Order: sequence, then structure tokens, then C-alpha cells
Amino acid sequence: MKRVYIHTFGCQMNVNDTLRMTEALQPLSYQATPTVENADLIILNTCSIREKAEDKMLSALGRYRQVKLQRGAIIGVGGCVAQQEKQKILERVPYVDFVFGPDAIAKLPEILQRVEADRVRVVETAWVDSETYVFPRADPNTSRGKATEFVTVMKGCDNVCSFCVVPHTRGREVSRAFDEVLREVASLTGVGVREVTLVGQNVNSYRGGCSFAQLLLRTAQVPGIERVRFTTSHPHDLSDELVDAFRVEPKIMGHFHLPVQSGSNDVLKRMRRDYTVVEYLERLGKLRAARPDIAVTTDIIVGFPGETEEDFEKTFALTEQVRYAGQFSFVYSPRPKTGAALREAEWGPVPHEVKIARLERLNALQKRISVELNAAFVGQTVEVLVEGASKTDAARRFGRTSHNRTVNFDGDAPIGALAHVRIGSASASALSGIQVAVGSVPAVPIPELAASPEVCVA
Ligand code: SAH
Ligand code: SF4
Ligand code: F3S
Repeated sequence: MKRVYIHTFGCQMNVNDTLRMTEALQPLSYQATPTVENADLIILNTCSIREKAEDKMLSALGRYRQVKLQRGAIIGVGGCVAQQEKQKILERVPYVDFVFGPDAIAKLPEILQRVEADRVRVVETAWVDSETYVFPRADPNTSRGKATEFVTVMKGCDNVCSFCVVPHTRGREVSRAFDEVLREVASLTGVGVREVTLVGQNVNSYRGGCSFAQLLLRTAQVPGIERVRFTTSHPHDLSDELVDAFRVEPKIMGHFHLPVQSGSNDVLKRMRRDYTVVEYLERLGKLRAARPDIAVTTDIIVGFPGETEEDFEKTFALTEQVRYAGQFSFVYSPRPKTGAALREAEWGPVPHEVKIARLERLNALQKRISVELNAAFVGQTVEVLVEGASKTDAARRFGRTSHNRTVNFDGDAPIGALAHVRIGSASASALSGIQVAVGSVPAVPIPELAASPEVCVA
């Protein structure tokens, strides 16, 4: 038995791809290990969404070099930086043995055999452009021990947001056939999973034989599934049908991640986001009419080329107006081959210290809003899907509410149970409470979670 350690950076697509890598390596007798020191194979599943993400990959590689020197471990680089940089990674980092793109995961055994037997360095970054996405979960057992799991429903992105590298690293949109998605969801309930998050870079343009709204409704009907979530949804094609799904299906959780990116129409135009602030707010209004208590979160880019103080004030005002439950805000980072990077000089780069000052102001505002919204839960009893031990105190439990708020609590409900928790205190990022009752428990008992390998949100 050999051991593989996979360090995952980036988004849910990568988290999910890491499981596919583990499955693909099983026929070669590789078992996943949470400790890099005893690994025979180290894989970095990389993200290139921002410059910092790439820097993190390089510093992790530096650390893993020691394991290579001591144990002769093989080192591979997968994910979005691999797809973007290809051969250049081998040139830049002499101790990397192979590079493979997100579409080459199924080829991992073949790649490794070449590395091990022929002692060659391999680069495998060809796209799989078939109309139906053909990389299903090979083994639901890799999800055993989890109450909640991601299911990839599409890959790639056909949008052209001018800041974004994803279309270059993930290629064109390809959807998985809906019956295949539903079969996978059903197989996950067989190992105890009770909540699934359907993931794709742009789920609103899902085309796997039904609309995305229908896919959500069908997923909610799979026996054993108690909760359904999804991410990410682009505002410009958020359909009325999807909004209606929130009206009719209570198993669709009360959280919507709707990245706005900026509160200024001028900036949105240069970003090629294809909506105005008014249009965004209209769609949000419909969503809140369908599910009044829905929690909305967003992504914002600060310091996009040409962003004036006035533009930024509009983003600030929008955050106040919408009162997001949370936001992921980052300073703009130029990415290779993107429209904004090519035109940054023309539009006017924003000085680094200005970007940072704006980000800090926005984060402080969001923190105040999150604290206020979370404080409103104190004294209430909420339903929580138990996911495991609390990350801050192993004696406590951890789970999430319908609104995707993290709850740490005292209690003994098993993983996969829907516990009722009375909230005693709240911070900007989490709620804390005491279990007052255990609602429904999983039909399939879920074993305790093993320590999971490193995931790094870039
Ligand atoms: N598909 C999703 C976004 C995926 S990328 C959507 O369209 O909503 C996740 C987030 O990273 C984006 O929403 C954006 O806010 C941020 N991001 C992407 N490219 C970036 C860049 N070049 N600089 C800074 N942030 C960026
Ligand atoms: Fe990137 Fe835009 Fe596609 Fe999202 S929709 S992945 S931001 S190009
Ligand atoms: Fe995801 Fe990062 Fe790639 S956000 S799609 S892993 S560039």
C-alpha cells in the first residue's frame, strides 16, 4: 500500500476534483494520507484565480521538496495553475515530476506509471471537450463519514468576465447529464450523505437535459436527501424559474451566493459582467420575495483598473443596502491573458495601498453587518446539520444552518443528524449554542470523520 497526500487550493471544484484523484489512484494501491511526511506521492491541486494563490503553491512546493529528498516521494502539480502554465512548471521547479490539468484526472494512473517505470517527467493538459461531461464519481465510499458533499454538475465557463482566468484554466462549459447527476446523488445517500451542494462555475447555464432549476428540484426528491445547495450563480442569467424553485421546495436551503463584483455600472461594464446594479437588485428583490429570510452572500473585487473613489463608494453603499450575510472581497489581481490585464495601463491601475485601504474599509463594514445579522439569532433555536467536531473545540459539535451559518454547539447528536440548537452567542463568522433536541437522524449511520488533508482557500 502506497500513500498519497493531496494539498487542495481554491474552490469547491478543486475540493471535489481531489476526491476524484483519490479514486483514480486506488487501482495503483494508493491510499490518501492526511500527513505529508509519510507520503509516497504528493499532489498539489492548484488554483490560479489570484496571484497570491500561485505564490501559495510555490511556497508549498518548497516545503514538500524535503519529503522528496528524504523519501524519494513523487511530486505532481494539478489544477488550474497546471492547466495555465503546463511545461513551464517543470522548467521552473526542477523537482516536480508531472503536471496535469483538471481534465486529465482520469489519466492519473497512466501518468504515474510513466513517471515510475520510465523515469520521465510528464505534462498532460489536453481538454476533454465531449458534449457530456464524463468524469463521474467512481466510488461513493470516498465520501463515507460526511454528512454533506459536493457534486460537480458542470465544468468550464463560457463567460468572458475581463478579470477572470477560469475560462482559460477550465475551458468551455460542459454539463453532466441530469440522470448521471441524480444517480451520483443517490449513491451518496447510500453512504450517509444528507446534503449535497451542486457545483459549477456558472450553474445557471446548466444544459444537461433539463434546466438548472429542474435539476435542483429533482435532486431534492432523491430519497435520503434532506438539503440541497448550489454554487455559483451568475446574476445575469438568474432565471425566474430558479427563483420559483425557492418558493416551492423547502429542501433548497435559504442561502444564495450571488457575486456582484462591484457597485458601479462603469466598473461592471469594464468587467464585462453583463448586468447593471439596478438589474442585479431587481433579481435580488425577486429572490427575497420568493424566500423572505434568504441569506445572500457575494464576491467583490476592489481596485479593479480604473476604479475611482466614487466607484468604490458605490460598492460600499451597495453593501450597506443589500446587507449581505457575508462577502468574499479581494483586491484585483491581474491574470495572464485576461482582457483587464491587457488593458490595465489604458484603464488606469489602482495603486496597491489604495486597493488595500478600500478593502479594509469594505471588510470592516461587512464585519459590522455580519455581527448585526448574526446577533439576531441569539435566543432562537435553529436547525443544524451536524458535520463533525467543532474546529475550535473538539469536545463540541459543528454544523450549518439552512442559511449556511456555521454553528458550534454543545451536544451529542451524531454526524448527519438534524439537531435543534439554541443560540447563546454570535460573532461575525459563527454562532454558538446548546443542543436542545435531536431532529431526524441519518438512515445510514455515519462513522466519525477521519482527519482531512489540507484545503487552502486561495
Ligand atoms: N464563477 C463565479 C466566480 C468564480 S471566481 C462567478 O462568476 O460568480 C471567484 C471569485 O474570485 C470571483 O467572484 C471574483 O470576485 C474573484 N476573482 C476572480 N478573478 C479575480 C482577479 N483577477 N482578481 C481578484 N479577484 C478575482
Ligand atoms: Fe470567471 Fe466570470 Fe466565468 Fe465566473 S462567470 S468563472 S467570474 S468568467
Ligand atoms: Fe477554482 Fe481557482 Fe480554478 S477558483 S476553477 S481552482 S482558478
